[in-house]
Amino acid sequence: MSKTIIISNRLPVKITEENNEYQLKVSEGGLATGLGSVYKEGNNIWIGWCGLDVPKSEEPRIKNKLAKENLAPVFLTEEEIHLYYEGFSNETLWPIFHYMSTYAQFEQTYWDSYKAVNEKFKNAVLEFAEPDDVIWIQDYQLLLLPGLLRDELPDATIGFFQHIPFPSFELFRLIPWRSELLEGMLGADLIGFHTYDDVRHFTSSATRVLPIQTSANIIHKEDRNIAIDAFPMGIDAEKFSALPKTSKVMEIINHYNEILGDVKVILSIDRLDYSKGILQRLAAFEKILLENPKYVEQICLHMIVVPSRDTIPQYSELRDNIDKMVGNINARFRTTSWNPIQYFYRSFPIEELSALYNKSQICLVTPMRDGMNLVSKEYIASKTDNSGVLILSEMAGASKELVEALIVNPNNLEEMSQAIIQALEMSEEEQQCRMTSLKQTVTKFDIKHWVKVFMDQLKEAKETEKSRRARHVNKNLLAEFSTKMRSAKKRALFLDYDGTLVNFKANIDDASPDRELYQLINKLSNDDRNQVIIISGRKHETLEQWFGHLPALDLIAEHGAWKKSGTNDWEETPNLSDKWKVNVRPMLESYSDRTPGSFIEEKRYSFAWHYRKVETGLGELRANELMSNMRYLTREMGLQLLPGNKVLEVKNAEINKGKATLEYLHNKQFDFIIAMGDDHTDEDIFTAINDVAITIKVGTSISEANYYLRNVEEVRNLLNSL
Ligand code: UDP
Ligand code: G6P
Repeated sequence: MSKTIIISNRLPVKITEENNEYQLKVSEGGLATGLGSVYKEGNNIWIGWCGLDVPKSEEPRIKNKLAKENLAPVFLTEEEIHLYYEGFSNETLWPIFHYMSTYAQFEQTYWDSYKAVNEKFKNAVLEFAEPDDVIWIQDYQLLLLPGLLRDELPDATIGFFQHIPFPSFELFRLIPWRSELLEGMLGADLIGFHTYDDVRHFTSSATRVLPIQTSANIIHKEDRNIAIDAFPMGIDAEKFSALPKTSKVMEIINHYNEILGDVKVILSIDRLDYSKGILQRLAAFEKILLENPKYVEQICLHMIVVPSRDTIPQYSELRDNIDKMVGNINARFRTTSWNPIQYFYRSFPIEELSALYNKSQICLVTPMRDGMNLVSKEYIASKTDNSGVLILSEMAGASKELVEALIVNPNNLEEMSQAIIQALEMSEEEQQCRMTSLKQTVTKFDIKHWVKVFMDQLKEAKETEKSRRARHVNKNLLAEFSTKMRSAKKRALFLDYDGTLVNFKANIDDASPDRELYQLINKLSNDDRNQVIIISGRKHETLEQWFGHLPALDLIAEHGAWKKSGTNDWEETPNLSDKWKVNVRPMLESYSDRTPGSFIEEKRYSFAWHYRKVETGLGELRANELMSNMRYLTREMGLQLLPGNKVLEVKNAEINKGKATLEYLHNKQFDFIIAMGDDHTDEDIFTAINDVAITIKVGTSISEANYYLRNVEEVRNLLNSL
């Protein structure tokens, strides 16, 4: 039976050593809670670093202890902790992915260690993994792992989720090892991010850096399809809303009520991190005290900073700066009975957090960048009476869902301090109204929902891939086709040209037939039982030049506007009009003038606007623009717009390759028909003759065809073997 393997940099437990005994404490984190129900079942397992630098001799003891909990450790040496964890993960990837490029270090030794540790994780996974397992890899420390595992387990189901933002291409491209990182991630079947913006950024980086194609949220890479999607992570809302009703938490709340009296609490909870905007938050608070003396002794900022990565220079520097700033504000504004900021540099148990969430009038979550931010959701879930106000940075992933919060730009001090004042003065009614709807979101989209939706989609992505792959023309299918063909007396072979018989070239005229192709076509055509038909969108003049001298070949050009049988003359489809061209040409010309690298190919009854040489992204943008601008014009004039591979065709709606194929077959008797094509325009052939022919799509994108081949090389091999 297949099992689920979860892998993250850190295991979901904290290991401590007391009296020469190792103690495990399950972490309270959302991920640990959400995946708890998964990894503890059956043979499932969670693999990760145990968080300690342990002597070799102690490793077996820790391993045994963890095995009882379905956990398996990866041990990192001191050097690996320095180079892979602190170094590449947190001094290279973290700053770039959080838009702090000036903090980023591009050290070869960091990268070498990152690769080596990802390999180490791979080996740890391979100790347990079997081909049918579901593998779910978490976060930016393990970007190479999906690819490494894919090489070893080609059929495994691999999911990857990134918990931090994916930056825009302009930031991502700075990383010297960007293509290796993307290749690594694309080893997965499904890649998840918290927000749609991350999805967009990832897809745009992948298409700019690697030679891959995309359609909607699918990336086509070699023979694999990879789904990319947004899965906003939730929290264990049930747990957080139940906690304040427990006696332990009630006791803490009462204690706070006693010591704080009527002072309104503004809560701030983060790990020590420059991405969290802690200094900017302090500045906004200071501004309020400076400009609004009426709040002296009326409000207090309760600030928890959880120690994190403080061996990294930027983190320890940040800690010093927070110390200084808090000291400065407290010294300037305090009174004998009141301190404006209660600052704690340590972590607290969940009961303490729950009491604080429940008690605070305001929760101030203003990161400069954050993948999601769970504190904001925990605050909402903990508000049992629906009072309180969440102030949330628009740079946190959570702001895409928690739209009833007061949303602020953390770089705008004025806006932040105004939002705090608005929250302090907000009516009870408005608070209730906002909090009620925030709570609905947090409750519905909780951690269980997140795990379920991701897992379901991963399985679905794999199923779709499996059924697509089953249609790949492998040896068995080829043998089947050959047998059918051999027993047939009259055979028709409809072959598209560009992308099917030859590869695309930057200049369309360079994609002329090579010697091998001529040999192949001659070989097929020399058998009297075979009728080869080249069916293309190319001009008839071009097909004439390339194939006109081959007497046994039939040609269909311009999607069916022109036909030629053997040595006969070209025939034009009757009653086609080209009068529309005068109206369409100026529009196409204006797009060509505005889009360097694009050009118009004029055919007798159609235009093709090519953008293969246009800057990536711009060509697609202009093609979409052009399509929407031409929509009405084309409808009125009976034209059809056909998006192809880096080309947009405008042609008479009456002609298409499907119709041309059916007309060709009319009154002819074939007992074996095969059709192959790679493009949108070939889909018309597939739909027209699917039930009487073997239809084969070239490429991995979704198609009406019954089978597929990966590329031109496979097409040629198949034609040779038939
Ligand atoms: N947290 C904690 N102990 C503390 C303070 C915070 O366990 O003393 C938890 C908090 O409950 C939340 C997590 O740390 O679940 C922080 O997650 P978030 O997404 O807000 O930020 P991250 O640290 O992942 O960047
Ligand atoms: C963020 C990252 C996690 C990481 C956590 C704590 O939430 O997305 O992958 O585990 O911070 O950071 P640390 O470096 O202490 O593991």
